[in-house]
Amino acid sequence: MKIGILGAGRVGTAVARQAVRAGHSVKIATSRPASEIKLLTEVIVPGAVAVDKEELRGSDIIIVAVPLHKYRSIDTSVLAGHVVIDTMNYWAPVDGIMEEFESGHSTSEVIAEFFGDVRLVKTLNHIGYGDIEVDSYPAGDPKRRALAVASDDDDATRLVINFIDSLGYDAVNAGPLSAGKTFENGTEIFNGRHTAAQMRELLDQCQKVLAGANA
Ligand SMILES: NC(=O)c1ccc[n+]([C@@H]2O[C@H](COP(=O)([O-])OP(=O)(O)OC[C@H]3O[C@@H](n4cnc5c(N)ncnc54)[C@H](OP(=O)(O)O)[C@@H]3O)[C@@H](O)[C@H]2O)c1
Repeated sequence: MKIGILGAGRVGTAVARQAVRAGHSVKIATSRPASEIKLLTEVIVPGAVAVDKEELRGSDIIIVAVPLHKYRSIDTSVLAGHVVIDTMNYWAPVDGIMEEFESGHSTSEVIAEFFGDVRLVKTLNHIGYGDIEVDSYPAGDPKRRALAVASDDDDATRLVINFIDSLGYDAVNAGPLSAGKTFENGTEIFNGRHTAAQMRELLDQCQKVLAGANA
């Protein structure tokens, strides 16, 4: 796949390395011109190409790995029409209090509204950047870890599930974007390593709790 990554920090570069390893074609960009991250990319993500953010257009998937408190500075025209993975988490001590993320909705629902015309999928937010490469295992390995995926777009979900699998993880479909709440900061899923079966069970439990709360 053609993978575009917006954000060349801890998460962006770790995902980029793992995507290169999986055989994907990887472009990486930040808010700055490509020339400013070219050397960093060559050294830290060999095999990926540093580009201006506009050159991420045409990617099969664009992964947004930018601090959440900076989301309003993201050039959404680059993302328009694409399948986009939202890796961002809200953590008030770092992001500051942001009223829009205190509402009880999934942060990705707020992001989806801001991004507008994108096919948003929430995942890769609940794995530490340092684990992305070391926790990867081939399909069928009993140690293989699961990652939850939430989206309102079924085709985008299928594409992202294949991508997550290529990175060395079982992807478990959590349902709509609103279900992303169940694997955000502070939840049991966010804080642990789980197999696909354990993840399914945890997601089902969370859904029951949410359904009860909404009844
Ligand atoms: N740390 C973890 O283990 C972890 C795990 C999963 C998810 N997350 C989430 O992933 C997100 C990124 O975290 P991080 O630790 O990777 O951040 P980070 O190391 O601070 O890197 C952020 C990157 O985003 C770029 N950036 C900032 N504003 C931008 C914009 N408007 N457009 C394009 N690029 C922009 C920065 O470059 P410029 O400022 O030069 O543009 C930088 O390359 C956070 O929301 C975090 O909660 C973190």
